[in-house]
Amino acid sequence: MPVDQTPKSRIVGTGAYVPERVLSNLDLEKMVDTSDQWIRERTGIRERRIAREGEATSDMALVAAQRALDAAGLQPKDLDMIVVGTITPDMPMPSCAAFLQRKLGITDIPAFDVSAACAGFLYALSIGDQFIRSGMHRHVLVVGAELLSRILDWEERTTCVLFGDGAGAAVLAPANGDGRGVLSTKLHTDATLIESLCIRAGGSQERITPESIRQKRDKVFMNGQDIFKVAVKNLTRASACALTEAGIGASDVRWVVPHQANMRIISQVAQRLDIPLERFVLNIDRYGNTSSASIPIALDEAVRDGRIQPNDTVLMCALGGGISWASALIRL
Ligand code: UT7
Repeated sequence: MPVDQTPKSRIVGTGAYVPERVLSNLDLEKMVDTSDQWIRERTGIRERRIAREGEATSDMALVAAQRALDAAGLQPKDLDMIVVGTITPDMPMPSCAAFLQRKLGITDIPAFDVSAACAGFLYALSIGDQFIRSGMHRHVLVVGAELLSRILDWEERTTCVLFGDGAGAAVLAPANGDGRGVLSTKLHTDATLIESLCIRAGGSQERITPESIRQKRDKVFMNGQDIFKVAVKNLTRASACALTEAGIGASDVRWVVPHQANMRIISQVAQRLDIPLERFVLNIDRYGNTSSASIPIALDEAVRDGRIQPNDTVLMCALGGGISWASALIRL
């Protein structure tokens, strides 16, 4: 059924935060059997940020959220709901969103996490949009925040070189009828490749034991090639579908803010969508793959440095573990 694409919610403020500590490819050369050249050529990554000891996901989310609230001219007390996309909450229970609520100094609004891996921010955005569409809430804080450095096997070169830490946030408010806002969000999951990107131990299925720790089953496992293929296919398809449904041609898209997992994936999606790479917001070289944080960090950078202007049509797309993927089309 075609969905009403008249914007009902609008992003009124964005914010981001990355930790200070830089881990370069050259640093990694000293840790595992890899090279700066391999990492740059195969992924586009030059360096990534690593959280300091004692820093938790909600600490990073807090700074991003405060910056987004400042940009929106709102206070924490103006919020009606907090949704955090994350797979690295401060604790398995309760949610990172609950910690964030407390750190923002507010009480008694719904605050919860969504687990959709790298698509987590777009899932959170979609949920926030639906609550505003329904008239239930006015101001929703949506966040993507990840502290992946804690869940990586730092001896496994096929994963540890790829990821980084960071957080991004956006404040959603009711659209005011001028055409600006969230035009559509599309969410997808296909579990066929569930084992290709997962953390095998530590959930209800498999306990953490000395043996599982020895086998690094409590750390991120990825079959990169499996994910690469579906990423190119699904991100292209979801993006093309969002554009067709909205009656928007590729040439009308001013900016694409893609999940920053691999420069080769982004280039292939750009080619297939027939949107020049110059219209993609890219920061993978500086931050690597920050999972759910990558889109809101890139969005915030492009808003703050003036690349994204009011009324620009922006396409966002992400894919990660699940396999879960999503697209969002907004007029900023
Ligand atoms: O955000 C969540 C979604 N994730 C993704 O979208 C990631 C999707 N996948 C990818 O981005 C790519 O598959 C990777 C970057 C993970 C890997 O790149 P690839 O071109 O698919 O490499 P590969 O796995 O086919 O490995 C090629 C070679 C292998 O050596 P042999 O068997 O050819 O001798 C690997 O052992 O590269 C080797 N290799 C490395 N060499 C140096 C793998 N990792 C490294 C490394 N440094 N860090």
